[in-house]
Amino acid sequence: MAQVGKKRNPIKLFHHMAIDVSDMEKSIDFYRKLLGYKLTERHAASEVEAIPVELAFLRIHENHHDLVLSHTPGKKYRLPNQQDNIEGTTLHHHIAWECQDRDAWLEMLDRVNEMDLEIIRGPVVHSPYDPRGDGSWGENESFYVFDPDGHRLEIFCDMASIDDDGTFRSFEGNRIEEAKVIEI
Ligand SMILES: [Fe+2]
Repeated sequence: MAQVGKKRNPIKLFHHMAIDVSDMEKSIDFYRKLLGYKLTERHAASEVEAIPVELAFLRIHENHHDLVLSHTPGKKYRLPNQQDNIEGTTLHHHIAWECQDRDAWLEMLDRVNEMDLEIIRGPVVHSPYDPRGDGSWGENESFYVFDPDGHRLEIFCDMASIDDDGTFRSFEGNRIEEAKVIEI
């Protein structure tokens, strides 16, 4: 594959996602309990003419919001059943949060168990290189749960970084010489 010239990407990082939820109270409570979000603002549907949906803006630290929940009045929400849980009912496959480090990730695993949430995948090491890996990609350690509407959430730590020459570097700082990006 031809290499595309390196040019500074004006995009910094994935910032937030707005997800449509069937029960605003339940979902605000869920994201507070699971991920420690705080409610910044909450607004009724049509409070602003162009916005006919209810909105809640949630934040982790100092950003006004990192996650938005919307609720559409009158919409018939289709909640997941077991089959849907396999195929997915939502318009995205999953949304992911990175933990500060592995201890923090283990803390999240405890929290999920305390909340009695089913872990739908993992814990798994996404790696074709690590002997603990399942052959998938990213070098990160992850587990997955559903939110009340069946949005698939990934909680992970220790994703690889990419050196300037395209070689993967593990979170421990070791270069994985056999692992190279397709495009530098
Ligand atoms: Fe992911």
